[in-house]
Amino acid sequence: MKLIHNPAEWNPLWLNHLRTNQQIGLVPTMGALHDGHLDLVKKSREECQVTIVSIFVNPTQFNNPEDFNKYPKTIEQDLAKLALAGVDYVFLPSEQVMYPAATGLKFDFGALEHVLEGKFRPGHFNGVGIVVSKLFHMIRPHVAFFGQKDLQQVAIIKRLVNDLSFEVNLSIVPTRRELDGLAMSSRNLRLNPEEREKALLLIRSLEKARAELTKGTDWKIIKEQIEADFNAEPLARLEYFDLVHPDTFDTYSIFDPAKKSSICVAAFMGDIRLIDNLPIIS
Ligand code: PAF
Repeated sequence: MKLIHNPAEWNPLWLNHLRTNQQIGLVPTMGALHDGHLDLVKKSREECQVTIVSIFVNPTQFNNPEDFNKYPKTIEQDLAKLALAGVDYVFLPSEQVMYPAATGLKFDFGALEHVLEGKFRPGHFNGVGIVVSKLFHMIRPHVAFFGQKDLQQVAIIKRLVNDLSFEVNLSIVPTRRELDGLAMSSRNLRLNPEEREKALLLIRSLEKARAELTKGTDWKIIKEQIEADFNAEPLARLEYFDLVHPDTFDTYSIFDPAKKSSICVAAFMGDIRLIDNLPIIS
């Protein structure tokens, strides 16, 4: 496994792989790697001859500086996991490489960036759009792998690729869960044991809502019930629990089994903000 720190190191390698007709898969990450990331690596190794994983904690996508400063950094363990997983390259750019000068670039993703994550984390998707564009330009992969857990990020990146004509295919990998159902996330490392236990409220509420929808219960009633469940848990603070179209993120007030839908949730457990989602109609 070779470590790459800047495009100058990568460019001749990229050219060699291109000349030998090898497909390059990119797995963009912010480190603190868990089995969900390793699923992306596995998929890339199945689909491509070359896998490069980027690790960069991107400052421009954090709307909360404390969240950025406290983002878990586990680089030694990350590199050991990636070597074991058979990764070919790890791209470890410095902030200077990614942002040689402060950027004032502004994307407009329309309605997509004003609801759910976009509403509660203003500027977040702009930062994601900037860093993912930079990674696509620097690495020039044939395929890029993202997790379904960040469903709205997937919708944003699809829009980015479409609107800016990036020649990259996107491969979306299902959410990896702990044995008890909690969606794997780097932020789980920051939960204390009590918060970790209560964090199951997210997946349990998604599953409860899905079961109620199947029984024909009105979405409005389901949502009120879930909000009451969160209010009853002192450690939890619900930000949103919405039924949406998974591509446009239009929110539904009535469930229609003929339309694509997913339920998305974001909530704090103590100080840690968690998100999760469950597809209902794909
Ligand atoms: O999903 C993430 O870890 C990040 O948002 C990404 C795509 C690596 C961009 O920094």
